[in-house]
Amino acid sequence: MAKYIQLGESFRITGRGFVYKCNAVPEKDNFRVGDTFYDINDNKIIISGIEFSGRGFEDDRIFALFTNLNDKKDKVKGKIISSDGKPNVSFIYAANPLESNTVDDDYLKEYNSTNNTFQKMIFNYEELIYNHRLKINKKIPGLAIYRGWMLRPEQYKELYDLLVKENIYLINSPSDYERCHLLPNWYNKIKDYTTKSAWNSFNTVDDAFKLLNEFNGPVMVKDYVKSRKHEWDDACYIDNPKSDKAKEVISNFITRQGPEFVGGTVLREYVNLKRIGYHEKSGMPISEEYRIFVLYDEIVSIIGYWGNAITKFKKEDMDFIEWIKNHINSNFYTIDIARKEDDQLVVIEIGDGQVSGLQGFNEDEFYDLINKIIYCGDE
Ligand SMILES: Nc1ncnc2c1ncn2[C@@H]1O[C@H](COP(=O)(O)OP(=O)(O)O)[C@@H](O)[C@H]1O
Ligand SMILES: [Mg+2]
Repeated sequence: MAKYIQLGESFRITGRGFVYKCNAVPEKDNFRVGDTFYDINDNKIIISGIEFSGRGFEDDRIFALFTNLNDKKDKVKGKIISSDGKPNVSFIYAANPLESNTVDDDYLKEYNSTNNTFQKMIFNYEELIYNHRLKINKKIPGLAIYRGWMLRPEQYKELYDLLVKENIYLINSPSDYERCHLLPNWYNKIKDYTTKSAWNSFNTVDDAFKLLNEFNGPVMVKDYVKSRKHEWDDACYIDNPKSDKAKEVISNFITRQGPEFVGGTVLREYVNLKRIGYHEKSGMPISEEYRIFVLYDEIVSIIGYWGNAITKFKKEDMDFIEWIKNHINSNFYTIDIARKEDDQLVVIEIGDGQVSGLQGFNEDEFYDLINKIIYCGDE
């Protein structure tokens, strides 16, 4: 049976080759110096050394691997390597709750995208969440990209671990997922490029009120992952942090999030964005915003968040995006940015690429762009 390794961060040691931190190696004793592996572009990688380490790594299943890629730029494509030729790349979706062999309606268009390079799997979401079991329509070993509902970090880890047992490796490890999914994790990497934020790790109203002391002007409330932006006036936007209304908005937010609440409460300084209108149903202000998907450090697409046209970005804007890219470490993630009234860009949030919506972007085009990045790249 083919053996797989999911590679994490890498660095180069002159004379020894590339050293990778490796995630999710189920049987780490199975690997020997001299073993040959292949990446998704069929590049050959020979293990020239192995080192186990309990310290300095995010989890103890990880060990360091030295490869033959000595003087070249890091060329392992896909970060999943297989002993049995190039690994498959497939997509995995949640099933329709009423019919477990068909995909959930909300992802049907993605599932049916015309790009047939990728094989597709469907798993039963309810079985995962409520019974902690993997029920899947087929098992395609290799690299898999999930496209679907946001998962709580512990749910993502559960899905990840269950899939690893089947030799299926999600593109992002559980720690990669948490890094982009939870605000405190990404905020600290890019804090000068986003709006000032304060948070705690509770879902209690009294603790959240204390955060108000850190602000003098308008703020937004959210948890580590989501806001209630469609309840803008009574559960999202706070005009005056010293007012009674501020407490009412926070209470509404926390109460209404209920069991959906993730992590802790976050308050973020509100900045004036370039207004392009108001949401017709919820009255939420709509601004010039973009969602950028990044896959293996390459931009997949820059999508107008509210269906706004993609104006050609100025060099300063591209430099801004490049800076963010250089500070976020994930194989597949999104950067949401907005333009402030003073024309500068600001990061609104970072997300895991697997659980970020396409915001109306054409599905066929999206999967074609992903295909190009995965299979062409720097060949
Ligand atoms: N600090 C802020 N200043 C001004 N507007 C903001 C700010 N943060 C968010 N917004 C607006 O509110 C919307 C929702 O905020 P966001 O943090 O993306 O929450 P969600 O995770 O629910 O999408 C954004 O798309 C943006 O229009
Ligand atoms: Mg958002």
